[in-house]
Amino acid sequence: MFRLLHPTIVKLRATGRRPRARLVPLLVAAAGAGVAPVLFAACVRPVPPAVTSPVVVADPPFLVIAHRGASGYRPEHTLESYALAVAMGADYIEPDLVSTKDGVLVARHENEIGGTTDVAVKFPARRTTKVIDGDTVSGWFTEDFTLAELRTLRARERLPQLRSTAYDGQFLVPTFDEVLALADSLGRARGRVVGVYPETKHPSHFRAIGLPLEEPLLASLDRVGWNRADAPVFIQSFEVGNLRTLATRTRVRLIQLMAEGAPPDRARDASIPTYAELRTPAGLRALAAYVHGIGPEKGLVLPGAQADGATTLVRDAHAAGLKVHVWTIRAEPRFVGPRFSGDVQAEVRAFVEAGVDGVFTDQADVVRGVVPQ
Ligand code: G3P
Ligand code: CA
Repeated sequence: MFRLLHPTIVKLRATGRRPRARLVPLLVAAAGAGVAPVLFAACVRPVPPAVTSPVVVADPPFLVIAHRGASGYRPEHTLESYALAVAMGADYIEPDLVSTKDGVLVARHENEIGGTTDVAVKFPARRTTKVIDGDTVSGWFTEDFTLAELRTLRARERLPQLRSTAYDGQFLVPTFDEVLALADSLGRARGRVVGVYPETKHPSHFRAIGLPLEEPLLASLDRVGWNRADAPVFIQSFEVGNLRTLATRTRVRLIQLMAEGAPPDRARDASIPTYAELRTPAGLRALAAYVHGIGPEKGLVLPGAQADGATTLVRDAHAAGLKVHVWTIRAEPRFVGPRFSGDVQAEVRAFVEAGVDGVFTDQADVVRGVVPQ
């Protein structure tokens, strides 16, 4: 019995997957026979909690998306930051995703983690220099650490000159599976759906080094029953190529992020359009064939230099059938658009009046003060 089941058990442990239903009686029989009780327990132990919330997309008309959690108040991309944002009224929590050396998706804004963890103290010798999407970056990179190593780290505030460091050294770097389980449990506790809005970070880089993001992302969604069109999930990317591929592999709603310049994968594939090309009416119509919406930098909707007035982007996107979620509303005056003189509530009101369908924000409570739930 052991020899028969051992390859399956090893595979389950490696992938963190549940045993298929048809295997469970076999495993139980093995346990009952006293052959493999420990292995049976071991093969189910790594599986994240099941998501049991009803998966019906009933998004409010204006989405409050917790940008890296409540990152104005807690170290970003921690379970504690996400939970606080939901308590403040966020509809969706936003994990940026990168990969560990052993292929586990974790929530970090970039693969270099020197600025948001204590890795420099705990692994000083692991500092290195790499070229990531054309930029030379020195530091510590998630792809050089196993999940077990990353779990020894604690999160730190990215902007210590501006935001509280009182929570530094307390919180773990979470896995995407843990973020999904948190969204489910918070949603059930609050009697409403709490969605997730994962972003693939540096997807071409990770695929090139043999640690693609998309497959484990969809596998995680599969495990919790959220790899479906009506799940409370958006997958976002600054790249174009991986969204095009994802569109052939999942019905989860996709969001094309955009800023100035060009998608990072244009450096590898000159046929990829620039962001300026993507946001033309024709570019938006082409996007609408496979994405649900766009995520523009806020200046692409309300340009900072102008005293008033919006670009045509929201109108053009809506005409193409696309939703518009802008980033990023931050309450600190230095981050508020210049035309609002540091008044973040006025900025939020202006985006509502401009017709956007949601905002990413570091301070969900501030946005909720303007757009009640
Ligand atoms: O994903 C929307 C927004 O978060 C994009 O900016 O750099 O904070 O991931 P970034
Ligand atoms: Ca992001």
